Amino acid sequence: MEQATLTLDPAFRIGAIDPRIRGSFVEHLGRCVYGGIYEPDHPDADEDGFRTDVLALTRELGVTTVRYPGGNFVSGYRWEDGIGPKDQRPRRLDLAWKTIETNQVGVDEFVAWCRKAKVEPMMAVNLGTRGIEEAAALVEYCNHPSGSYWSDLRVRNGAKDPHRVRIWCLGNEMDGPWQIGHKTAREYGILAKQTAKAMRLVDPDLELVACGSSGRWMPTFASWEAEVLEHCYDVVDYVSLHSYYRPKDGDYASFLASGVDMDAMIEAVVATADYVKAKLRSSKTLHLSYDEWNVWYQQPGDTREWVVAPSLFEDQYSLIDAVVVGSLLNSLLRHADRVRMACFAQLVNVIAPITTETGGPAWRQTTYHPMRLVFQHGVGDALRVEPRGPLVETAQYGAVPQLDASATLDPETGAVALFAVNRSLTEPLVVEADVRALRGVRPVEHLALYGERDATNTKDNPDNVVPRSMPVPELADGRLRVTLPAMSWNLVRLSSD
Ligand code: AHR
Repeated sequence: MEQATLTLDPAFRIGAIDPRIRGSFVEHLGRCVYGGIYEPDHPDADEDGFRTDVLALTRELGVTTVRYPGGNFVSGYRWEDGIGPKDQRPRRLDLAWKTIETNQVGVDEFVAWCRKAKVEPMMAVNLGTRGIEEAAALVEYCNHPSGSYWSDLRVRNGAKDPHRVRIWCLGNEMDGPWQIGHKTAREYGILAKQTAKAMRLVDPDLELVACGSSGRWMPTFASWEAEVLEHCYDVVDYVSLHSYYRPKDGDYASFLASGVDMDAMIEAVVATADYVKAKLRSSKTLHLSYDEWNVWYQQPGDTREWVVAPSLFEDQYSLIDAVVVGSLLNSLLRHADRVRMACFAQLVNVIAPITTETGGPAWRQTTYHPMRLVFQHGVGDALRVEPRGPLVETAQYGAVPQLDASATLDPETGAVALFAVNRSLTEPLVVEADVRALRGVRPVEHLALYGERDATNTKDNPDNVVPRSMPVPELADGRLRVTLPAMSWNLVRLSSD
């Protein structure tokens, strides 16, 4: 059997993991909001119409931050449509997804849902069809205590206390020609700067995210970031990154190596942001918000029927998708020093780890499991692990390491978590981890997601793909030996008690 090595050493510290990398995304798209988080006629709905089963799964997942209301949706959204008495809210054509938006959920409901889910809201403003004035008014509505038009309206609408929304995205994917109100980098960079200034005049205590590229495949990737940031570097705190992956033409070897692309995207955006920093002679370091990432199969079609909450992008995830998600999480942890926020897209029904049946149950998709375990155990400091070992050939990325790994050390408890993906479709891999620098630790658990490539979880068989307990790895002479099944995602936990 092939063998790889790595090192677990507290001295190889990358940085503290920001809890906000455990974020998600709720967009007015398909059945994410209506039939997902909100379904007033459902037997498990609470007094506000929220599905309590989805709330429970969200809390169990360990999500910290949720981005809202889009996505492409936000670029045509009038937030004022979603406030006040529900029976007076307009039904609108949502041009982004060609559906009818009933506005039964708006900013007040979303913030109320966040409080119940115990997550921090992350709002996006419309810089497609709207601009500075509407963005500043939304901040006033959400965050100004009272005594002004918009804040008093919020109080009259039932929210006496300000919502205190700290994180704001300045638009969404403004580089994309599909975006309503798509802009050039110069146009967007100037608008982002002006909007940021106005929003901060209303509330100086905001954290702002500028739109980066919609993907590494965009023809303007990197030049977009460079030009946008030259205009707005001083007034923003983060630049966004988006990536979605799926196997192309049955090329599963490349699909399993998707983390190579994510690593490259992060490193290119860091380099671009640091280039702008140097050019502007700024003392501020910009951080990254990977605010859309996932595996995504179904592509937008050409539907022309105007309906409410159609089933859109309800991908059913398999075992290999969960392994790839685990690998993408490794990439985020490996860059914990610069990636300070991340949102898997999306939370429920739409390219999501949670699926619901309208009027029926909610269940965990395969991808739910690596997310939950990384969110639970991948806390504290991220460690560089320096893996060495065999390579696997891929059509898209050339030869890539068979072992893809990340590790964390919780300085409060001494607990160590090693997250390891075996990228071989067919061969197991032995990993020897040098843990001599971690004095007094002992291995306590090895969980692995592996098995049939296309196995899924369904309503009738919701626990078909779950992490399986493996023999606790042996530790001898400061070296830990773990066997990773072929095409697997693994968690190895070490305890210091
Ligand atoms: O998450 C689905 C869509 O993907 C979002 O609306 C958009 O921002 C991205 O292209």
